[in-house]
Amino acid sequence: MSSHTPGAAARLTVRDVRGRKGGEPLVCLTAYTAPIAEILDPLCDVLLVGDSVGMVLHGLPNTVGVTLEMMILHGQAVMRASRRALVVVDMPFGSYEAGHETAYANATRILKETGAQAVKVESGPTVGETIAYLTGRGVPVMGHVGLRPQAVLGEGAFRAKGKRPEEYACVIAEAKAAEAAGAFAIVVEGVAEPLAREITVAVKVPTIGIGASAGCDGQILVTDDMLGLFDWAPRFVRRYAELRSEITRAVTDYARDVRAREFPAAPETYFAKAEV
Ligand code: KIV
Repeated sequence: MSSHTPGAAARLTVRDVRGRKGGEPLVCLTAYTAPIAEILDPLCDVLLVGDSVGMVLHGLPNTVGVTLEMMILHGQAVMRASRRALVVVDMPFGSYEAGHETAYANATRILKETGAQAVKVESGPTVGETIAYLTGRGVPVMGHVGLRPQAVLGEGAFRAKGKRPEEYACVIAEAKAAEAAGAFAIVVEGVAEPLAREITVAVKVPTIGIGASAGCDGQILVTDDMLGLFDWAPRFVRRYAELRSEITRAVTDYARDVRAREFPAAPETYFAKAEV
């Protein structure tokens, strides 16, 4: 019995994504829910179930409070609604730093319970060995260097890297360590243009930039930011829609109609069948 549905589009694999180094730019966006995943899936190469979900959907001040259970729940929703894009799920803060075996147990739990193809870890100075442990045991890993939001408590703020030349060596070393450990791609976040280009030249796997210039092999944005769902967005975000004002307009119209008893009207009402 074949496990493939005839005619179904094949999902991109980590090999496909790795093979895009220096080629057609990778189109990546975050997705946390089924309806958004369904819309993005035919248009994107990678859907990231990012731990930014904690801030975007759950109103948390940063990503530190995000749990494994939250990532699994959102990962399941995105997998159910997508067929083509590679789906990567973030490992949340506290799920991979304590030791290789805990990281492996949590990563395999994410892969088994969601069906996603890969996990992402924020590859700080000590995470290279953990990435090697995971990739060596069949867990595909995407790295994440530069601005690492999970480090916010130690750093005190979200701060772009590479504006000062003395920061270059450390970030390049983190990217090289992630590559050497077997990461198939690396997110480069909040990094000044020359450093992003240097990282991209320094590693043989694709770099995926967010606030990291056009010097990367692909780009990712938080979908809710580029759709204009928030009043504020970081300066590296281009707003491709203004959904916040569109939603406000729609709900204002709805409230007006309800208050005026103009909604529902006949087309939106069930009527009893006429007696024969
Ligand atoms: O959590 C997230 O959305 C991310 C992207 C910003 C790359 O890690």
